Amino acid sequence: MRARSPLSSQAYNRALPHPLIDTHGDTGPMLSVCLGAKVQLLIKDLLRLARGQGPHLDHFEAEWLLADVLTRSRAWLYAHADDAIEDFARQRFLELWERRCRGEPYAYLVGVREFYGRRLRVTPDVLVPRADTECLLEAALARLAPECAACVFDAGTGSGALAINVALERPFAHVIASDRSAAALRVARQNAHDLNAAVSFVQANWLLAIADSSVDLLISNPPYLSSDDLRLHGDSLAFEPLGALVAGASGLEDIEQLCVEGRRVLRVGGYLLLEHGCSQGAQTRACLAAAGLVDVLTLKDLEARDRVSLARQPGDLEMSPP
Ligand SMILES: C[S@@+](CC[C@H](N)C(=O)[O-])C[C@H]1O[C@@H](n2cnc3c(N)ncnc32)[C@H](O)[C@@H]1O
Repeated sequence: MRARSPLSSQAYNRALPHPLIDTHGDTGPMLSVCLGAKVQLLIKDLLRLARGQGPHLDHFEAEWLLADVLTRSRAWLYAHADDAIEDFARQRFLELWERRCRGEPYAYLVGVREFYGRRLRVTPDVLVPRADTECLLEAALARLAPECAACVFDAGTGSGALAINVALERPFAHVIASDRSAAALRVARQNAHDLNAAVSFVQANWLLAIADSSVDLLISNPPYLSSDDLRLHGDSLAFEPLGALVAGASGLEDIEQLCVEGRRVLRVGGYLLLEHGCSQGAQTRACLAAAGLVDVLTLKDLEARDRVSLARQPGDLEMSPP
């Protein structure tokens, strides 16, 4: 079934000269909108109308979005389903819903995204943190003893999702995060401030500004799509920053660079952990080994797909306790 065109607030207003708007079947039960200066649209009817316009979207998204616009909970919406909705709130909701129906990530509409149980601000300057990346975070935490005073470096921090969570979960660690994008760093700094996370931020091109043999744990979720990847034109990714997604013609250019630079900046026994695409496990392991790192392996995500590859700087020393 073809998706209907998204409902815009303008389209909605243009529809007002009709005495009734009735929708049936797929779009929900009959919806009647009264004409006149006082248009009374009930919360439950607005939600049915919205769901009918975005049948390809998660069933609950319209509820989450309306709850956000009204600064209420979804439970409140259910309890007030028969309340009339204010014009201003209806207009705001319809504008946002139209953007969502066009494919814009939900997180950009509401300006926040939860990652590892914490709310992060997001703007179109940063990649929307993905649940997949929690695999990299957990692998990093597993290599950091709770009271370890290790130096942890998050290269390409975006919203700060990884660095902030490492800093909060391992308060003895010294966490530094970098990004090439000044706009992304502003978002990350704000998130660290809001969550009271002790992270030092630096604007840098990968690890070029980092001293040799100074990092115990290097983590990165770098761009890893090739420049001709068709997904770049699909929903969601088309709205996210290209500099957070694309790594040259092969998709591996940043991974290769991080392996080489990682070998230089890691202390003896230190780890490099990289997120990558689920078809890039073998290539990433080859890059890690070619850089001279040892104990190379790939971890799988919850769907059993290759997701994170890691390796260690050769040598016997373990990370120093506090
Ligand atoms: C895939 S995003 C990951 C963001 C965040 N770490 C996360 O997991 O949600 C990659 C990030 O790397 C940054 N980046 C890309 N090229 C870079 C470079 N040469 N040096 C530093 N950061 C870079 C991008 O700006 C972007 O924020």
